[in-house]
Amino acid sequence: MSARVLSGTEMANEIRAEVAVGVAEMRDKHGIVPGLAVVMVGDDPASKVYVRNKDRAAIEAGMVSESIPLQASTTQDEVLSVVRRLNCDARIHGILVQLPLPDHIDEDTVIESVNPDKDVDGLHPFNMGLLVAGQPRFVSVTPAGIQQILLRSGFDPEGKHVVVVGRSNIVGKPVSNLLMQRRPGSNATVTVCHTRTRNMAEITRQADILISAIGRPRFITADMVKDGAVVIDVGINQIDAPERKRGYRLVGDVDYDAVSQKAEAITPVPGGIGPMTIAMLMHNTLKAARYFVHPHLRELGD
Ligand code: GUN
Repeated sequence: MSARVLSGTEMANEIRAEVAVGVAEMRDKHGIVPGLAVVMVGDDPASKVYVRNKDRAAIEAGMVSESIPLQASTTQDEVLSVVRRLNCDARIHGILVQLPLPDHIDEDTVIESVNPDKDVDGLHPFNMGLLVAGQPRFVSVTPAGIQQILLRSGFDPEGKHVVVVGRSNIVGKPVSNLLMQRRPGSNATVTVCHTRTRNMAEITRQADILISAIGRPRFITADMVKDGAVVIDVGINQIDAPERKRGYRLVGDVDYDAVSQKAEAITPVPGGIGPMTIAMLMHNTLKAARYFVHPHLRELGD
């Protein structure tokens, strides 16, 4: 039987509509319009599309949106001074520096330069630390999107065995920490696999929920998946497609056709986790503006 397809596009629209209601309320009650700034260094085509989509989503939600494109040759000091300006800009509640950055810029230094109160990307060590400590504040957007797609599709991770493939700071580490939290919507038993894991298929076959964020096209084959598993594909990989005008197409980490014959539910690529990350960025920006207005709420989390 073919798996249920979990449409991130539909769910992201739902979340973005909820955020728009919150933005209107904040404007009407407090006279504050949430503002998001996105900094992009260089002109990677995939990043450009992503940044344009973020800009559009922020405007559609009624927010102030500032995109700051910088040339690939921009120095690290110049990027840091842009971030410092945004840290002090009262119109801007959320700052995101698009990754990856060119090789001559140290990503960790730039991430650490963002004011943690404006870190809607959730990648600052302060916010990562709060998550690990069980007090999540700004959770990075891909993990937050994964949790939302599971919950809104009726797949509560509580008590389930979640296997995460990948240990990146953007996805693997935060999503494993998020889903093991002692709180509703989490409470999973989590195993993390990575490039040095032995007998990976033996582990992934135990997953009730399998999350792949490894960045290798069609890495997860049907023999690695248990019958009836829920499969979340975070990969966005370009593969050659000479028959297409642009010469490539996007595929996930999962061998979709074969795995969808085995899984109970699966996220497509594109149209799965990608749109959810943008929706959660809007959610986090509204949250940052709320904390700006009501600082005492910060310690309470959501
Ligand atoms: N590039 C791909 N995903 C992300 C993300 O979640 N945050 C940032 N800043 N850059 C990215």
